[in-house]
Amino acid sequence: MTSLNASSGRVPGLSAAYLSELFSLDGRTALVTGGSSGIGRGIAGALARAGASVVIVARREPELAATVDELTADGCRAAWVSGDLSTRDGVRTVAERAAEVYGEPDVLVNCAGINLRPPMDELDEAVWDTTMSVNLEAPYLLGRRFGPGMAERGFGRIIHITSQQAHRAFVRSGAYGVSKGALESLARSQAEAWSPHGVTCNTLVPGFVMTPLNTRLSSDPEKVAALAARTMIGRNGLAEDFAGAAVFLASRASGYVTGQAIFVDGGFSVH
Ligand SMILES: NC(=O)c1ccc[n+]([C@@H]2O[C@H](COP(=O)([O-])OP(=O)(O)OC[C@H]3O[C@@H](n4cnc5c(N)ncnc54)[C@H](OP(=O)(O)O)[C@@H]3O)[C@@H](O)[C@H]2O)c1
Repeated sequence: MTSLNASSGRVPGLSAAYLSELFSLDGRTALVTGGSSGIGRGIAGALARAGASVVIVARREPELAATVDELTADGCRAAWVSGDLSTRDGVRTVAERAAEVYGEPDVLVNCAGINLRPPMDELDEAVWDTTMSVNLEAPYLLGRRFGPGMAERGFGRIIHITSQQAHRAFVRSGAYGVSKGALESLARSQAEAWSPHGVTCNTLVPGFVMTPLNTRLSSDPEKVAALAARTMIGRNGLAEDFAGAAVFLASRASGYVTGQAIFVDGGFSVH
């Protein structure tokens, strides 16, 4: 004889309440550098749609305004601040102006990045300095500006966007790969410092993503197909592929995840 012991039905709204408790960003404020293009734009949209008030930062105003217009048309709370993250003064100015909009951020996403790719023999000090300034020093300075406040308030999320080139050389990694490797180390140092106070610090690691950053490669169909074949999923990344991981890392759900590099690369790194 078999017996059946199943509950008769689900309480309406139970899953929505549960998911909201884990992942909702209602009431949170977020600052997303590089939020006007590519991966950063995808992440800014995800955080805003999950409930955060989002300030995006980059240099070009038309792209910033277009991104914010799209988000506000969708009912999100978003604003932009234009500034240059390649100088220390630029970073400091941007940080203060961004914090004025919705208050001190609960979530900091460092996504602005450049990849200049000269051959190693021609990699001069100017390329080295600019790469380190935008890709590494700006995240460090923004972390220093906002991390201690997050720790004092007992909640914070710092998310850096690194690269598979933090782990391997790939098409003239040059200074770029060095900056991304150091950024992963920065995340671990920040995690060590601030995790005891509720501030988790992690990195998202893209593989090859079709964005304006790599127009040269992504406009060559043969190279695009060859790179897609190196993934396990069978296609290259899209900006929207980062939405779920970014919301997870920004939310309460990831409170016990810190100092980690999370690969969002379709299996590229393990194939
Ligand atoms: N696409 C890929 O395959 C790939 C792979 C691995 C890692 N990543 C990383 O993912 C991040 C986003 O890349 P993406 O492909 O989305 O690039 P993208 O489309 O070129 O976007 C880069 C963003 O950074 C901003 N930015 C660049 N320099 C800046 C500066 N000096 N000051 C302020 N903002 C600046 C850009 O805006 P403005 O130009 O208007 O300033 C733009 O919003 C980068 O950190 C990149 O290294 C990308």
